[in-house]
Amino acid sequence: MTLILGIETSCDETSVSIVADGHKVLSNVVSSQIAKHAVFGGVVPELAAREHVTAIIPVTNQALKDSKLTIKDIEAVAVTNGPGLMPALLVGLTFARGICFNRHIPLVGINHFIAHIYGAFLNENISVLSNIKAYPILALVVSGGHTALVLIDKDRTARIVGTTIDDAAGEALDKGAKILNLGYPGGPIIDKLSKMGNHQAFHFPRSLTGAAGKPLSEENLFNFSFSGLKTSLLHHLDKYGINNLKDTLLFDTVASYQYAVVDVLCMKTIKAALKFKCNSVVLCGGVAQNSLLRTELERRIPKIKFLLTEREYCGDNGAMIAGLGFHYLGKKENNIEVDAYSRLPEISEVPFVPSL
Ligand code: KG4
Ligand code: ZN
Repeated sequence: MTLILGIETSCDETSVSIVADGHKVLSNVVSSQIAKHAVFGGVVPELAAREHVTAIIPVTNQALKDSKLTIKDIEAVAVTNGPGLMPALLVGLTFARGICFNRHIPLVGINHFIAHIYGAFLNENISVLSNIKAYPILALVVSGGHTALVLIDKDRTARIVGTTIDDAAGEALDKGAKILNLGYPGGPIIDKLSKMGNHQAFHFPRSLTGAAGKPLSEENLFNFSFSGLKTSLLHHLDKYGINNLKDTLLFDTVASYQYAVVDVLCMKTIKAALKFKCNSVVLCGGVAQNSLLRTELERRIPKIKFLLTEREYCGDNGAMIAGLGFHYLGKKENNIEVDAYSRLPEISEVPFVPSL
């Protein structure tokens, strides 16, 4: 059994997890800083870094305690080294380096974006990866920082076939909630309030779907755009007045707004899955916790295996980092000097696809 400690500090969650053999999650502790950032209406990078500094040792101790292990049992450390907020990433990375230096064990740098996809394959879902019939796999990665469609083939290659040209889906929900003074982060609040509203009450735009009668260019077939949605919410607000947007009118507004986001995500994912003849579709990332998206995508997917990431592993978590770390051991340079990076590099290989 290979025991890997995974550390995640790329944004506003300090998370440490211990995963055995790349998929058995023994512990997964997440300490959220949301309340600290809420007063600023978004994540403040320096504040995030300070909070990680305070939380990282207790969170690590808790993860060890939960799994009934000690640091001496850990065989390698996997840490998110990008993309993310640089000051926040550096806390996890420096802490991970300290452990590895002290314990003489390998350090593996993990790409947060790929780790979100891997989060779908933890625990029992790991068996999908070794099933040749599951490929090609299309992953819809929806988080606060990313919205992308990733095509994974059985030859270990992955390519982004669609991405957002402006805001991410989570960002659209967060910004929408901010405009409506609903609090931060907006995704879960909109999710909750939408359940009380009628999603057909108002029409918000579905950009880059050809819905407005504008022909869609080939390059944007699977791309997303959510910034127009935000603008149309501002127009909606002008029309009705912020003070009138309460009760039914507010619930109908958020339900219609959320539905516009979910509708576009479903339309594009299904279109891409059919075009690339995919045998599986994966939903992952923080926004994958959205109740409507979870049910709606599953309902609309035509006879394709649908892999829904367990809620616990949708948002930022150490388990997806530790799990993915297993697949790099002995393959990638395991180096204590691994560096941090803030932006998503081009993806060409997914180490977790086994030889089939
Ligand atoms: O993956 P994640 O935890 O962090 C990033 O890597 O960005 O995703 C955070 C995003 C935020 O935009 C948050 O509003 C959204 O996930 N989110 C949700 C829900 N829970 C979190 N969006 C919609 N419905 C939810 N229930
Ligand atoms: Zn994330």
